[in-house]
Amino acid sequence: MAKTFNPFDAEQAHNSWALLTNLREESAVVDIGDGMGYVTRHAECRQLLRDTDGFSSVQGFKAPGVVVPTEDRTLGELDPPNHTLVRRVMVTALTPRSVKAAEPYIESRATALLDALADHGGADLVPAFTSPLPNASTVHLLGFPEEDAPQIMAWAKDLIESGFPGTHRNREGVFGFAEGFSDFAGYIDARIEERRTHPRDDVTTKLLELDVDGERLMPRQLRAMVRNLITGGLTTTSQLLGNLLYELFTVPGLEDRLRSDHEAWPRAIEESLRLAPPVMFIPRGCVRDTEIDGTVIHAGQRVVMGTACANRDEAVFENSDEFDVDRANTSDHLTFGYGPHFCPGAPLARAVARIAISAFLQHFPSGAVRLTDGYVYENVPAFFETGPARLTVDITRSQ
Ligand code: HEM
Repeated sequence: MAKTFNPFDAEQAHNSWALLTNLREESAVVDIGDGMGYVTRHAECRQLLRDTDGFSSVQGFKAPGVVVPTEDRTLGELDPPNHTLVRRVMVTALTPRSVKAAEPYIESRATALLDALADHGGADLVPAFTSPLPNASTVHLLGFPEEDAPQIMAWAKDLIESGFPGTHRNREGVFGFAEGFSDFAGYIDARIEERRTHPRDDVTTKLLELDVDGERLMPRQLRAMVRNLITGGLTTTSQLLGNLLYELFTVPGLEDRLRSDHEAWPRAIEESLRLAPPVMFIPRGCVRDTEIDGTVIHAGQRVVMGTACANRDEAVFENSDEFDVDRANTSDHLTFGYGPHFCPGAPLARAVARIAISAFLQHFPSGAVRLTDGYVYENVPAFFETGPARLTVDITRSQ
């Protein structure tokens, strides 16, 4: 069958909402070529994301044929039973309590980043605010020195942009994280080693000390999980903040509403996640023939859970293309996944978004920041992410 939609093509992935509506109406699962299935609807995405026996995560975003040793896999690349054990450690380490405890720090970083902007003139809010804030938040939770945050962000960006998530190789083709990114891996190992001798009150120490059914994470697994926490939330949360600010500037009435009604903030964040998902789909490998809406997905077939498409399923969300800050069920979106792999970083991402909005609205009076004349929204180049590459604004803050 001819290709109908290619989610791995950034241009198509970001500009195909009308086509996706048609595919959703056509069938719950469509053949998108190369033997790959794309799941279009909300109920079926949830059904398959729950089914870890029938749909494996091991291949993740990896190209066919790329096999990563188990102890070097991120949490999202593990299947049960390994996944169940490691996830319990991750979730226990990254509790809502540790996120809550980090909030005053995240608030102080948000304020400091906004204070650093000039009161008049132009700025790009992506490098100035939406990128550094999530990174600083994760670095703080892990307990790493604040001054290392820019270097950690540079390593993580290089890793993501090198194509490593698909190939497990660096730009020069060297296979493996420790081998291809030795400075980054060495830095993580050194921070873990420090905590082995001097435990601290941070997420890294918790990962090191927690045991699951009498077992602790092996050193390579620990390194993979710390890397996972750094890279899992970095660009995704940056895209969420970028999308939220873009919506604040462009959705009619949204800024006034959020200024006068703080209770609407969480719903605005969920609507942003639903309509502009920082992660647009979730890949799986079918390991057991499964019939969906009259179509059989065969063992061995690759399947893409089209969560961005499912987030606009009219069966669940009325007027689904509209940004509706009063939508009661907005948090039913699938942007953080669903089932056993549901994003454990969701509470952190939501807290960072709430703090960022609050700090931004407090710092700038109404109308003090607007997109530059002629601003054109350009998506970040990553095919699986939605977010503005730039947020160039004019600031007139007369206070
Ligand atoms: C807006 C921000 C974020 C979005 C949209 C997002 C999205 C996702 C999605 C869709 C999954 C499920 C993948 C699957 O089912 O295979 C996931 C898993 C995961 N996320 Fe996030 N994430 C975000 C922020 C974060 C943050 C801040 C962290 C870490 C601090 C994080 C760490 C992880 C980890 C470790 C997993 C693997 C969970 C598992 O497989 O059990 N994420 N994320």
